[in-house]
Amino acid sequence: MTSSVASYPSLVGKTVVISGGGSGIGESITSHFARQGAKVGFLDICDDPSNALVESLTGEGHNVQYINCDVTDTTALQAAIGKISQDFGPVGVLVNNAAHDQRHKLEDVTPDYWDQRIAINIVTTQLPQPDAFIDGPSDGSEVEDELIRRGFQGFQDVPTLFSRRFNDRS
Ligand SMILES: NC(=O)c1ccc[n+]([C@@H]2O[C@H](COP(=O)([O-])OP(=O)(O)OC[C@H]3O[C@@H](n4cnc5c(N)ncnc54)[C@H](O)[C@@H]3O)[C@@H](O)[C@H]2O)c1
Repeated sequence: MTSSVASYPSLVGKTVVISGGGSGIGESITSHFARQGAKVGFLDICDDPSNALVESLTGEGHNVQYINCDVTDTTALQAAIGKISQDFGPVGVLVNNAAHDQRHKLEDVTPDYWDQRIAINIVTTQLPQPDAFIDGPSDGSEVEDELIRRGFQGFQDVPTLFSRRFNDRS
C-alpha cells in the first residue's frame, strides 16, 4: 500500500525530544516523528497513555523512549533531556508542546494557580543552554539565527527555543 504521508529522510536517526508527548497533539507529534525514523524521547506526567504509546510505537519497530518528567521542574527536565541525549545521541529537534490550557474564571485565579500556569505555559519554553545538548554548531549559531529570524534579537545571550505556541504566530 502506498503511504499518503510525506517522508523526510533528514529525520531518519535524528534525536527528537517532545514535551507533553504522551497524549493529545503531543501524541500525534511523537507518532509522526517516530514513523519518520527519528529516535524520539518524550516527557510527560501521565503514565498510562504514555506507556501505551511507547508499547504501540515500539511494536511497530520504532525507537521511542518515555520519561515521566514534570517539565516545570527544571532540574528533572535537564536530567531527562540528558538521559535521552545519552541513549539516543545529541538532540536535533526539540518540541516544547506541554502546556495547560484549562479555562478559568478571573475570580478563581490564586497566586499559586497563576505561578503554576506561568511555569507550564511560559517558563518551560525557555530551556537553559540548549547548545549543550542540541545537535548543531557548537557556537550555538543555529539557535541564534532562529531567534533573529523570529525578531528576538535581544535574547541571544539566553539560548532559547520557542514552543509551537510562539511558532504559530510567526
Ligand atoms: N488543542 C488545541 O486546540 C490547541 C490549539 C492551539 C495550540 N495548542 C497547544 O498545543 C499544545 C498541546 O495541546 P493539547 O490540546 O494536545 O494539550 P493536552 O492538555 O491535551 O496535552 C498536553 C500534554 O502535556 C502533558 N503535560 C501537562 N503538564 C505537563 C507537565 N507539567 N510536564 C510534562 N507534561 C505535561 C499532558 O499530560 C498531556 O499529555 C499546547 O501547547 C497547547 O497550548 C492546542
